[in-house]
Amino acid sequence: MESRLYRPRRSVLYVPAVNEKALGKIASLACDAVILDLEDAVAPSGKAAARDSLQRFFAARSWGAREIVIRINAAATEWGAEDLALAVSLAPDAILLPKVDTPRDLLEASDALNEADAPETTKLWAMIETPRAMLNIGAIAELGRDPASRLACFVAGTNDLVKETGVLATADRRHLVPWLMQMVLAARAGGIDVLDGVSNDFRDLDAFARECSEAAAMGFDGKTLIHPAQIEPAKLAFSPSPEAIAEAEAIVAAFARPENATLGVISIDGRMVERLHLAQAQRLLARA
Ligand code: COA
Ligand code: MG
Repeated sequence: MESRLYRPRRSVLYVPAVNEKALGKIASLACDAVILDLEDAVAPSGKAAARDSLQRFFAARSWGAREIVIRINAAATEWGAEDLALAVSLAPDAILLPKVDTPRDLLEASDALNEADAPETTKLWAMIETPRAMLNIGAIAELGRDPASRLACFVAGTNDLVKETGVLATADRRHLVPWLMQMVLAARAGGIDVLDGVSNDFRDLDAFARECSEAAAMGFDGKTLIHPAQIEPAKLAFSPSPEAIAEAEAIVAAFARPENATLGVISIDGRMVERLHLAQAQRLLARA
């Protein structure tokens, strides 16, 4: 939302909570946020060990100034309750709920956080990765309008969406794009952020850069990542370009001229510019 302090979420790296070596690297990585994963990146036999290493990681508190998010297992699984209790006690910036189907899933989680006296600063993020979530996306996003829900961000779970729907995963993601656009639209309606799903092929950084610039053009705030090599291309794609910054500065300067003070619409280099463009330009400069 416009009123909240701007936090960049261009590059958001998943780190399996069970992988101590990867956890140890976080402090040296330049990503905007990390998602410490107790869910799909951890095999059933490793769930308990993952919770232990997460606890050690938080005890050491060496992750720098970035946002820290914990992805727990779904409430319906045998690990859900214990994961949630641990996550609340660690007071991360957010807890990421997988397999959200309905607004009720989020409300139950926020009730649980309130009952456990979780600090207000612990927000909820929601994976959008099931057909039911897609059909309920507007109602889920609407919770973003109510601070009591704690909902702050959607994360596209594209691998699960492919698995659950049977669409073909092509390089250009043509069969996923309609759903991705619905997520962006719903997130804007709810005033929350929205992050694109992961690219599995972490060696092909050219393809990755293309996917990032597509996602930026689609309106995503950033991308979820699986490998450190993806951090820089993601940051680049989701940061305003020098041309966009120059254009925004020109719009701000034009409206600041005394002769334009009372005008709603002006022309710059043969293009109509309205005050809505001024607001857009100011927002872009704030991000830059
Ligand atoms: N976070 C932090 N560090 C990571 C990392 C991650 N997600 N992925 C790799 N690294 C580190 C490795 O530990 C390695 O460190 P080193 O140079 O000190 O040895 C370095 O980056 C290079 O890794 P590389 O050898 O290229 O990859 P890998 O074979 O070790 O790991 C994956 C490949 C896919 C297993 C790993 O990247 C990974 O687990 N990613 C996250 C998966 C995940 O969380 N999935 C769930 C959400 S979709
Ligand atoms: Mg998933």
